[in-house]
Amino acid sequence: DYPKEAKVGWRSPSNIALVKYWGKKPNQIPANPSISFTLSNCATTTSVTFKKLDEQVAHWSFEFLFEGAPKEDFKPKIETFFGRIEKYVPFLKEYHLVIESSNSFPHSSGIASSASGMSALALCIVDFESAIDQTMTSDFLKKKASFLARLGSGSACRSIEGPLVEWGEHKNIIGSDDLVGISYPYQIHDIFRKYRDTILLVDKGEKTVSSTAGHSLMEGHPFAENRFKQAHANLNSLKEILQTGDLKRFVELVESEALTLHAVMMTGQPYYILMKPNTLRIIESIWKFRKATGLNICFTLDAGANVHLLYPDSESVEVKTFIADELSKYCQNGQYINDHVGEGAAKY
Ligand code: PMV
Repeated sequence: DYPKEAKVGWRSPSNIALVKYWGKKPNQIPANPSISFTLSNCATTTSVTFKKLDEQVAHWSFEFLFEGAPKEDFKPKIETFFGRIEKYVPFLKEYHLVIESSNSFPHSSGIASSASGMSALALCIVDFESAIDQTMTSDFLKKKASFLARLGSGSACRSIEGPLVEWGEHKNIIGSDDLVGISYPYQIHDIFRKYRDTILLVDKGEKTVSSTAGHSLMEGHPFAENRFKQAHANLNSLKEILQTGDLKRFVELVESEALTLHAVMMTGQPYYILMKPNTLRIIESIWKFRKATGLNICFTLDAGANVHLLYPDSESVEVKTFIADELSKYCQNGQYINDHVGEGAAKY
């Protein structure tokens, strides 16, 4: 039997895609496979207190506290999430949930918190279930959490494990699955185990276009089919790159993926430009710096104006100076966040 009251907590990181997920089919099935670095410092910590409801009620309910205060604008997202997952976690309907969440990164920094937030919440729910189902292994717990997290926000299914997670069927990636993120199953060069990501906060405002609206732009998009094929091809190339540690090819592939994501946004109907003038200034500056120094720093982008700088740990001294002297002037209030590749979510 499930307990009358119990509290569980998880800390789950954000992730940054190298090959981007953009476009989806019904039930949060990705239109193409993707792969991401799991981050470490940028994370959401969530605890859920499950309180058993009166049998007559028999419908889940919840309250949501963000950084200690009730937050109404997140509630519709959570409601949609619970509506999608209830059939996989039938015990949910017998509980009232007190969800308490906080982010390690500054609020409204323009960093997407849906991946870390939804994965942390999914982990709490499956963890509670595992307290009853003694047969549940920790591997199964993580797999089910990834499955549920995907239903909250697609990319959230890639935040449970690390350092690299692949999501979506690909014929040359064993175990790849449209329903869950998998820990990348091939050997990777040591250099990628210590990769760094500095997030330059160019624009901390509200997103111009929601992910949902963005993904739907790929339906009937004139370049969609070629884009989906390209993602498959890029995962093939990346397999070799990750194994050999060929950073020159890594840089080319990662930057091209980022620009392709923005290119399809610019050529959709309606069309969007999500970069800001400072995004372009940063890109130009990175290209100049790379040419002058021969270092391997590159950029990637999400569906927004902020820039993720990716570079090997061994180059961090030079890059640190470059950021302080040059790139920080293109950031809002000079703000950026230093992060690195991590191992995934953890109970706390
Ligand atoms: O998880 P969603 O639906 O918010 O989509 C995120 C998509 C990108 O961040 C732009 C790319 C990716 O693969 O993470």
